Amino acid sequence: MAAYSFDRTSYESRIRWFQSARFGLFLHFGLYSIPARGEWVRSDEKMPESDYMPFFETFDPKQFDAKAWARAAKQAGMRYAVLTAKHHDGFCLFDSQYTDFKSTATPFGRDIVREFLDAFRSEGLRVGLYYSLLDWHHPDYPHFADRYHPMREDAAQTNENRNWDNYIAYYHNQVRELCTNYGRLDLLWFDFSYDHMRGETWHATQLMEMVRALQPEILIDNRLEVSGEGFGSLYNCCPTPYHGDFVTPEKMIPPHGLQDVENRDLCWESCVTMNNNWGYHRDDNHYKPASLIIKKLVECVSKGGNLILNVGPMGNGAFPPQSLATLRQIGDWMAVNSESIYSCGKAGLEKPDFGRFTRRGNTLYLHVYENSIGPLPVPQLRKSQIRSATRLFDGSEIQISTSWVHSDYPDVCFLDLGPDPVLPDAADTVLKIELKES
Ligand code: GLC
Repeated sequence: MAAYSFDRTSYESRIRWFQSARFGLFLHFGLYSIPARGEWVRSDEKMPESDYMPFFETFDPKQFDAKAWARAAKQAGMRYAVLTAKHHDGFCLFDSQYTDFKSTATPFGRDIVREFLDAFRSEGLRVGLYYSLLDWHHPDYPHFADRYHPMREDAAQTNENRNWDNYIAYYHNQVRELCTNYGRLDLLWFDFSYDHMRGETWHATQLMEMVRALQPEILIDNRLEVSGEGFGSLYNCCPTPYHGDFVTPEKMIPPHGLQDVENRDLCWESCVTMNNNWGYHRDDNHYKPASLIIKKLVECVSKGGNLILNVGPMGNGAFPPQSLATLRQIGDWMAVNSESIYSCGKAGLEKPDFGRFTRRGNTLYLHVYENSIGPLPVPQLRKSQIRSATRLFDGSEIQISTSWVHSDYPDVCFLDLGPDPVLPDAADTVLKIELKES
């Protein structure tokens, strides 16, 4: 296969569906879901493998139902989903021929990745797999003095006899399995680079030559180069063969969106937990209200980015009740307002006092979080620009106000939202403005 050379036209064609989809589901599920103290439990607690293996020996999530997961995601208005095929603990949710540390070798005995892909594709969602570059189970991955390994402080776990090339071959073979045996993948979400463990330490060029040969249209994130910190080589306008196709701000939203050093808009996706953990954490009940998540989805789109929202299924395979309830509430809002999200992006206007703008061509969406006293001022627009105005809630007309109360401001556009000070949607009432051709 010819050496990779970055072609902006084909890149922009590949990412088009992703930038239209705007809203995805992240799924963190595995052995760590049983101790239920987050997906880093082995590292956080410096847990020896011997204490972790009972979770492998008893793994049998009887309430796992990929179809139910997929229905919940679709109802929430999500357009794609990414499942952990292997997290840092090294446990594989797929039937890899290169390890027995896999779901098909547990009492559960099933290929969770395959069931996830089948179920989400059948609901019409695009599908991706998260694959951890770190591997705390593999004997050839650095242990002692590694930054994160659970045995990093155990001097008996020295690294003299560990063969890094063996680990590279192992993880490359697994990525080949995922790109070969499971049909078309839309996304590969690698995680994560740190210290000198980045780029060619992962043999990333060789990896991506293989991935692109097997899955030519696939999108990858930027974590073969960086982590949630750092932007990657597309940002620097000197793309490596393993450049991320999108930047992955984590548990935050970039203050002003993201542009490369030549001021081109970058493709990015904020990855956000519903509480504060990716993997299920039984005692973490700090769930974000649905109204906040809706506004954060709007914020990402208003800045030209995506939001991937995480659910950490419980050890029995079911979604936490709080997550399910939040997804339903988000879905109720998306059922009315999703046209202000899908295929929308930055409006090219100053952020309004009342909330945010999103835009698709000559259609501008006003996300009204807070009503005004009297007609709604929209100083960013001139009355002459407006062809029509409606509210998505019921499709009813929104009239340009002619009230005397704002007669001192003839150049400012004011919209008449009606006599009721309480807006139809307490979180975000969306108005749709069709602009005259500019
Ligand atoms: C961080 C965490 C990892 C999680 C990922 C999701 O890399 O270490 O546990 O899967 O973020 O973005």
